[in-house]
Amino acid sequence: MKLSSRITHITGGGSDGWSVHYRALALKASGAPVTLLSMGEHDTRTDPSILAAMDAAARGGNTGYSPVPGFPSLRKAVAARIERQTGVPTGPDNVIIVPGGQAALFAAHHAVCDPGDTAVFIDPYYATYPGTIRAVGAVPRAVMAHADNGFQPLRADLDAAAKGAKSLLVNSPNNPTGAVYSEQTMHDIADVCRDNDLWLISDEVYDTQVWDGTHISPRALPGMAERTLIVNSMSKSHAMTGSRVGWVCGPAEVIHAIHNLATHNTYGVAGFVQDAALFALGQGAAAEDAVAAPFRRRRQIVMDALAGQNAVRAAPISGAMYAMLDVRATGMSGEDFANALLDAELIGVMPGESFGAGGAGHIRVAMTVADDLLADALRRIASFAGTLVR
Ligand SMILES: Cc1ncc(COP(=O)(O)O)c(C=O)c1O
Repeated sequence: MKLSSRITHITGGGSDGWSVHYRALALKASGAPVTLLSMGEHDTRTDPSILAAMDAAARGGNTGYSPVPGFPSLRKAVAARIERQTGVPTGPDNVIIVPGGQAALFAAHHAVCDPGDTAVFIDPYYATYPGTIRAVGAVPRAVMAHADNGFQPLRADLDAAAKGAKSLLVNSPNNPTGAVYSEQTMHDIADVCRDNDLWLISDEVYDTQVWDGTHISPRALPGMAERTLIVNSMSKSHAMTGSRVGWVCGPAEVIHAIHNLATHNTYGVAGFVQDAALFALGQGAAAEDAVAAPFRRRRQIVMDALAGQNAVRAAPISGAMYAMLDVRATGMSGEDFANALLDAELIGVMPGESFGAGGAGHIRVAMTVADDLLADALRRIASFAGTLVR
């Protein structure tokens, strides 16, 4: 029996660049002392107070069906958070609760792209982007953000990619590059969307992890609220990756349409998880800062460990939990370097190429291990690279 071409084409074929990561995992499982810097997930777990709220909600009976678009209380809390960030009036009708940021990315593209439409995204990109676009039947089109421009996309490149497209997906703070889009970049993005009548899908899952500059949500920019869909989740901000709770925020008619999609797809998010999310949001910015604090600290550790050498250069680590390291001085591709590093030093990193052509000649280091391990690994990466520079 034949599967649908829609589902068989999601991955797009070809090498996915994850083989180094799987090799590192296998080595670690076999007992080798591998330092894994390839996982985009906190080395801490969800705060016990959030788990207590989840437990109390479940034991209190919130284990039945929940309203498909989310509990009004949680939609309201999310809307209030977005209104505080953007200054744009935002109510519960502008928000739908979905099972995580990935579900939000899928729902947002599903809502605005017809089969065959072109959906633009920025390369280097979070691994699922092209597949998510293909999964809704749209056609992915990459626009390069160049390392030499701090991985900020250029207006001219955005303009060229926007022609005939339906949507543009951006992600700031960015995985994998650690870039936080400048005010200029965000205004360019907004201009291009208005000029070309594009929907803007803004993935803001790292909005609490900003080390340089400020997080600008494009919903805040003039004329953008009506064409912007914010995608966000509790995964990175509250170390709730496993709880699968996130949202889409946008015009009420889009949210209504996504409600319809959710009715025929997820049928909502577990009520006790929503109660835990409501509790967590109620803890305010201090709780979010506490989850982000290790990455803020480790960003400095990375920069200190790489100081005084030229074999490896870090792109500006302005946000998120990653450092994108330029290894082009070694003459190797990111993938060859990552493989050689694993063999020689038992350090697992992601090749830049696994995030698209824009990541060529780079490796991505996730700052998701203890400070001393990270410092030691970075010093070993630099000294290993130094042996390769001619
Ligand atoms: C840029 C980006 N967007 C979306 C996601 C998905 O987030 P979630 O775990 O909430 O599905 C991730 C996860 O790593 C990410 O890095």
